[in-house]
Amino acid sequence: MIEFDPQHRIWLLSTPATAYALRLDEDGTPRHVHWGRPLTLAQAAAVPRFRNPADSSFEHPRADETELPVTGFGPSALQVRFPGGAREIEWRSDGHVVDGGHLTILLHDRHYPLAAELHYRVHEDSDVLERWTVLRHTGTGAPLELSRADSASWSVPRLRDYRLSQVTGAWSSEFRLRREPVPGGEIVLTSRRGISGHHVNPWVMIDDGGAGEEHGEVWSTALAWSGSWRVTLHRSPAERLCWTGGFGHEGVAWRLEPGESLETPVFAGLYCAGGFGGTSRAWHAHIARHVLPAGSELRPVVYNSWEATGWAVTEQGQKRLAALAAEAGAELFVMDDGWFGARDSDGAGLGDWVPNPGKFPAGLNPLIAEVHRLGMRFGIWVEPEMVNPDSDLYRAHPDWVLHQPDRRRTLLRNQLVLDFGRPEVTAWAHDWLDRLVSEHEIDFLKWDMNRAFTEAGRPGSGDPDRVWTDHVRGVYEVMDRLRADHPRLRIEACAGGGGRVDLGVLRRTDEAWTSDNTDAVDRIAIQHGYGQIYPARTMAAWVTDSPNFLTGRDLPLRFRFHVAMAGVLGLGGDLLSWSADERKEAAELVALYKEIRPVVQHGVQYRLGEPPLSGVQYVADDRVVVLAWRLPAPFGVSPLPLRLRALEPDARYRDDDTGTVHHGAVLLAHGLPLELPGTGYASALVRLTRLP
Ligand code: DGJ
Repeated sequence: MIEFDPQHRIWLLSTPATAYALRLDEDGTPRHVHWGRPLTLAQAAAVPRFRNPADSSFEHPRADETELPVTGFGPSALQVRFPGGAREIEWRSDGHVVDGGHLTILLHDRHYPLAAELHYRVHEDSDVLERWTVLRHTGTGAPLELSRADSASWSVPRLRDYRLSQVTGAWSSEFRLRREPVPGGEIVLTSRRGISGHHVNPWVMIDDGGAGEEHGEVWSTALAWSGSWRVTLHRSPAERLCWTGGFGHEGVAWRLEPGESLETPVFAGLYCAGGFGGTSRAWHAHIARHVLPAGSELRPVVYNSWEATGWAVTEQGQKRLAALAAEAGAELFVMDDGWFGARDSDGAGLGDWVPNPGKFPAGLNPLIAEVHRLGMRFGIWVEPEMVNPDSDLYRAHPDWVLHQPDRRRTLLRNQLVLDFGRPEVTAWAHDWLDRLVSEHEIDFLKWDMNRAFTEAGRPGSGDPDRVWTDHVRGVYEVMDRLRADHPRLRIEACAGGGGRVDLGVLRRTDEAWTSDNTDAVDRIAIQHGYGQIYPARTMAAWVTDSPNFLTGRDLPLRFRFHVAMAGVLGLGGDLLSWSADERKEAAELVALYKEIRPVVQHGVQYRLGEPPLSGVQYVADDRVVVLAWRLPAPFGVSPLPLRLRALEPDARYRDDDTGTVHHGAVLLAHGLPLELPGTGYASALVRLTRLP
């Protein structure tokens, strides 16, 4: 998987369907050579060096397409201030190390005490290349100031044009897919909020403007980091595109003390010749195999109490909901916010993680016992990184929050952020979480995070900006310790819905709460964007009440189910207000979901059509599941049929419900006939089995 040509100083990393090559220039700069279709080492050595046709005294002779740009007029991946004022780096090679699919290139500065390791890792069963960097102060004198320390920089071949695909949004409208040309100059995608964020998710896809769902070359990268981040795309005067990315936003700096190292997060990249759909499927497979801690499991059907009760949780109320949830087929009952401290609203109690005695007079165990008696596992909501000023914790430790000297502490949702970069804070968090899980039979934590950082700082710290990265590492550390000590514990990532979904948090969680917006129509777009990178097995989707609490939209129960069944189905409504008929229908649909679940969660996903008629197809071995959703359309307008994908043209497929037998070739060419009566909201679930 990794080859080296000492004569040309070129490394070639090969994955099943792609290759990546870089070389060390005469001046010691690691320079990009190739990222795309497979090449041999000899072919990589023959890739022509980039010549800038518009070369002039206004361009830098050594700047283009380096693996970690420092010099030149594009964005720098690495910005260092050496004692005495030098800012340029002149690399010298210390050789390289290959360990299986892991290549480490070792460099040091010719004069100053800085060493770097450039890491590249490939896997036998994935086309994703993982890259990261380690920087080390090798001297004894003054510290080094780092104002940028990116994980990796990426370059693509010269294309006729460059188009960026990304997902953007806000609370309750996350993951909206956008595709637009990359303008000349630079664009910056970033989060300054302390989390990966609802606004822009930390991935990009690039194509030449002509790729489609199932054709065309797409280059994509995704950052494995759950805090603030920045990716800068640079379309150069010579019409080349490269981008650099890593943790921290502009203005955040690190001080590297003698002997100290800074390791960046992984910035993973994928080249795919199979369009956006192929790109998504390759990410899904990679995340399942190499990112998720328990990616081969099937996720249970959750019931979550949040939309039913808000903060008004009580033992009796939860037991009543649990009885109906079990009847509907839920496998995991999750009690959401409101169970602890003085938590009757968002105004108080965060930080005081003991069951509220008025709501749970005998503690949590009677409820947990009842949930288990009903045959479900028990999960609970926590928000460990936060504190309300109106809490015993804050009264005891006002200095534990992120804050700056002589500055106000801005409240958002009436809460402040605990500084998870302080060891005493992570020790406290680990302690109460560990006790909560050890002293109760808790199988699942919904780990929430409900506000952006402001006034991020730690007075007295010599390196105040470290809070941005230390916080994330603290969160990771607590999650990792809990998982190691409680191997059966499963965790849901949540930040006011999908505000912290990224490859970093997915390495230590099992699913993500996609959005607080549970309106099934809005969810079609949200799920479409989520699934561009992240797999269905991580996409939590509840069926809630109608009209929807947020949008007021009234939707048929089947439609709500059919949308939520495209991911990890859950129930999140006030089941006490549902009629007996609705609960019966819900139970039937949950049972149906359990039957299709292995295909949805572990199958291969194909996106079909576009609104007003769209859907998803999942394929696993000889089974095919199609979920289709039709939005209101004028009478007489006939939406394009959903042409299925990845079937065997010569095979026949039997509809498991109607017995109708379809020819693969006909489904591929003419689409799946669907019963979608009327002109309003309508949906279908079709299960097909390939006949032997
Ligand atoms: C935000 C989450 O996204 C919701 O599902 C719910 O858990 C609330 N927080 C509780 O405060």
